[in-house]
Amino acid sequence: MKKLAGLFFVAAVVIFSCTRKAAPTIPNRPVEPVAGNKADTADFSSSNPMVAGRAIYEIKCTKCHKAKNVADWTQDEWKPILNSMVKKAKLNDLQISQVTQYVNANAKK
Ligand code: HEC
Repeated sequence: MKKLAGLFFVAAVVIFSCTRKAAPTIPNRPVEPVAGNKADTADFSSSNPMVAGRAIYEIKCTKCHKAKNVADWTQDEWKPILNSMVKKAKLNDLQISQVTQYVNANAKK
């Protein structure tokens, strides 16, 4: 029992000293800006739906296949395609609206 308590004490000291050593290095690390992740932020926040929509189209819609030629389908043909694709791409409401505007503006006339 004494031995066990000794081991426990040693373990506690080791853990304590390790956490103590690790702590001061955290603030010294360069802080990676969240916005540094291009795939997640590239122009998505643009207030111009054409810019944001295009960024979404080129990044979020190319995860499973190459960027499809928007002008291969008319607006009406795009509707059901987009409906299912925005779900696949897990877009939020704003992104859906932006990519829809981008597609509609560039669809086959
Ligand atoms: C999770 C995977 C995935 C994502 C993300 C995705 N797609 Fe697709 N898409 C597919 C698959 C699978 C097909 C059917 C096979 C193919 O044509 O490559 C397809 C087909 C298509 C087609 C062809 C439809 C047809 O009738 O021939 C278009 C256009 C398209 N996707 C557009 C988009 C757009 C726009 C987005 C973004 C909003 C998107 N996709 C995101 C998987 C995906």
